[in-house]
Parts: sequence; structure tokens; C-alpha cells
Amino acid sequence: MNTLIFALPGNESLTDALAQAPGFERGEWTCRPFADGETHLRFHSPVQGRDVVLACTLDHPDAKLLRLYLVTQTLRELGAQRVRLVAPYLPYMRQDRAFEEGEGVSARHVAELLSRCFDGLITVDPHLHRITRLEQVYDMPCRVVPAAPVIAAWVRQHVERPLIVGPDSESEQWVSAVARMAGCEYRVLAKTRHGDREVEIDAARWDAPAGCQPVLVDDIIATGRTQLAAMAQLRALALPAPICVGVHALLVGNAMHELKAAGCRRVVTCNSIVHPSNAIDLHPDVSAALQELTLPSH
Ligand code: R5P
Repeated sequence: MNTLIFALPGNESLTDALAQAPGFERGEWTCRPFADGETHLRFHSPVQGRDVVLACTLDHPDAKLLRLYLVTQTLRELGAQRVRLVAPYLPYMRQDRAFEEGEGVSARHVAELLSRCFDGLITVDPHLHRITRLEQVYDMPCRVVPAAPVIAAWVRQHVERPLIVGPDSESEQWVSAVARMAGCEYRVLAKTRHGDREVEIDAARWDAPAGCQPVLVDDIIATGRTQLAAMAQLRALALPAPICVGVHALLVGNAMHELKAAGCRRVVTCNSIVHPSNAIDLHPDVSAALQELTLPSH
């Protein structure tokens, strides 16, 4: 029997892409708010004894996490077998330690919640830093899709003489892979974060290849402060305005406008989060990962 894939609101095009693979089909359901803001769920496709996939990227995660809890509880009550989550953007990974006294490690708390709800997880480039593997906090089989191959393909196709630049040491894992696959050089800057919107990047002390086009690559663009600070350093090196590439387009508030106003040539993102800047398609790789993730049978 085919695995049923249900689209959480806003994840329709991801779900359509996943449902094209052999062995998968879209499930029908309704999910609507009651007048008081609570959620009403109803599955129209029978799920008894079926494997199920939920497609739900997790930007703005807090309300979505409660909804996923309700959906998975309902599916189990209706007799669904194994329930996997496809969440191209995995939230809370940056809170991977208690930075101040009195804080907790919310990366662990969210991982525990999702691990209780699901039997498997597929995501794209989670922000792995002090937690180096998802399995350290997620108690279920996980499959990570790297965005570097599709970003490198985009760079090869659209940029002449690229120089890949990472804004901080954490980004080296992504920029080195992109540069290797795009066949070009890369450099990494040094960042210190003082607050949500206060970011400092050290003066760059490296030489850039003559005539290069900088391509700033990072996993997440949220407030845009990291990219703005990196752009200032590239300007100080008298380099051309960069193209800003992000895997996950959180782009909160005025971030897009500020990046353009600061002179970035273009903001290009992958479609792990739906955003007008999406130009790089991850869906085929996510679909392949879903087909590859094998789960123990119940
Ligand atoms: C954190 O280190 C990430 O890799 C990104 O650099 C960061 O999340 C970007 O955030 P923002 O756009 O708010 O500076």
C-alpha cells in the first residue's frame, strides 16, 4: 500500500513533489481553526494500518509544533502505522546550549517532543554546531539533505569567477562544500554575536582572486545582520557587491529590504521555506532522502 503524505498548511508544493515518487500518494484531510482559535482536524483518507508522512517546514515553529502534536496523536488514534516528518527547516537548533544562567537547551526540548511524535525525520542542513549530529538529541532515524550540491549547481550556472564567502567559522562546513563542488575558492570571515541584532565581523585580512564575484553563503538568513556585517567587510576589501545565498529564508522583518538597500546584488535562497527569494529547488533531493530513509518495522 502506498504511503500517504499529508500537507500541513503552506507545504503544498513540497507535498506535490514528494507524492510524485513511486510508493507515495497525497492524503486528504482538513485542518481548520475553530472560532476560538483551537484546531479541528479530520482525516478523509483512511489511515488505519498505513504509513504516513507529514510535510511541514518549521519556520515560526511554536504554533506548528502544537499542531504537529495534535496531528500525530490523532493519526495514532486512527491506527496509522509509522509517521515520518519531512521538515526542510528544523528550528531551535541554534539554542544548543544554555548561553546565560537560567536558560535551558531548547534544541533538546524540541528534539524530545518531535521524537515522541514521529518515527523518522528528514530535514535539510540543520544548524549543527555544538550538537554535531542530530542523533545526539533526536531519538529516531534522521536523514539530513545537504543543500551544498544544489547551491553549487546554481553558482556554476549563474556566476562567473565566483568566490564563496562564509560569514563565520560555523559556515565553513557549508561554504567549503559549495566551493569544492562549484570548482572555486572560498574564504571565511570571523563573527562575534552580541545580541539578536548585534553582530560584529572582524576585518578580513585575506586577498581575493582578481576579478572575482563574491557569493556570501550561510545556512540561515534571519535578521540579515550577519550578511550585512559581512557585506561591510567585503566593501572594505574593495570587492564587488556580493550575491547573498541562504539555505533557509527566515528573512524576518525588513531583512530583505535592508540587504537590497545595502547594495547586495541579489538574495537567492533554497525553497526549504517558501519565500519570494527562492531560486534553488531542494524538493528532488528531499524526495530522494524520504525514499531512502528506512525505518524499523513495528
Ligand atoms: C548562525 O550562526 C547562523 O549560521 C546564521 O549566521 C545566523 O542565524 C544568521 O542570523 P541573522 O541573519 O539574524 O544574522
